[in-house]
Amino acid sequence: MGNDEWQLQPYLTERIELVNATLDRYLPKAGTLPASLHDAMRYSVFAGGKRIRPILMLAACEAVGGKVENVLPAACAIEMIHSYSLIHDDLPAMDDDNLRRGIPTNHKVYGEATAILAGDGLLTEAFILLSNPDVCGVVTAEKYREVIHILAKSAGSMGMVGGQVVDMEAEEKPVDLPTLEYIHTHKTGALILAAIEVGAIIGGATAKQRRALCRYGETAGLAFQVADDILDIVADQSQLGKDVGSDQQRGKATYPALLGLKGARQRAAELRDLAFAALEPFGVSARPLREIASYIVDRSF
Ligand code: IPE
Ligand code: IPE
Ligand code: MG
Ligand code: MG
Ligand code: MG
Repeated sequence: MGNDEWQLQPYLTERIELVNATLDRYLPKAGTLPASLHDAMRYSVFAGGKRIRPILMLAACEAVGGKVENVLPAACAIEMIHSYSLIHDDLPAMDDDNLRRGIPTNHKVYGEATAILAGDGLLTEAFILLSNPDVCGVVTAEKYREVIHILAKSAGSMGMVGGQVVDMEAEEKPVDLPTLEYIHTHKTGALILAAIEVGAIIGGATAKQRRALCRYGETAGLAFQVADDILDIVADQSQLGKDVGSDQQRGKATYPALLGLKGARQRAAELRDLAFAALEPFGVSARPLREIASYIVDRSF
């Protein structure tokens, strides 16, 4: 790494494979009773997905000199939490979407009750994994307790779930910029920030490094949802793998709705630049984080 040979795409592909193989080891096997529930949990987790949160966690850990193997369980846990949030986000009571990760949404295949429970199962499974004394490895129990606390908070009522509720309440309503920013930093930013912070902690970051990485996490996390809003308008549905035009149809509070497409793109670029600036104290070890910040705003799915 660090030379001009380094490229983001092969790096992402390799990391996706690593995360997928580890998730497969940690999740209850297909067919484990109750089979319908475990099949539904695996259906959504293994439907694809960019694995951006676990990849960011691994990259933050490595940026401060930590080892991938120490952070992989927490990286899998955050992907379980994220996958649960997608299953619930797609339910008829929420965004009522039909397509996710290129295949029919969980409730379309398994029914609403099982989809709700598959989400519950994945959320809980994340904390079963995180609290398993065998997985913290060389990381101290005290550090792991902090990791669990950060992940729980980021997923909870003052994090992702809080953002989701305000997102739902804002449908078909005029929304100001501070409210929109609240929605996006919570429903999406919170988990992305947590991914970075946990990577930093497990990697052994100094207090200063941790603060800098958190600034990166905050800005990259918000940029991620601004880009998601833009893609809902401009992306190709088969490439995106989820319903496009869904936001406008439901009258969602989005950056393009408030600032226009051009304004939203400008905001995403500003946030990317802030993410870059946060990485300035780091050398070549932060290259993946830098490239991922660009990818977050330039991606086409
Ligand atoms: C989609 O997340 C939902 C948001 C929080 C924007 P991703 O775009 O990371 O979805 P996957 O994991 O790649 O399917
Ligand atoms: C979802 O935001 C955020 C979470 C799932 C927590 P969106 O509703 O915009 O996500 P997509 O576009 O359906 O993936
Ligand atoms: Mg939603
Ligand atoms: Mg949605
Ligand atoms: Mg969206």
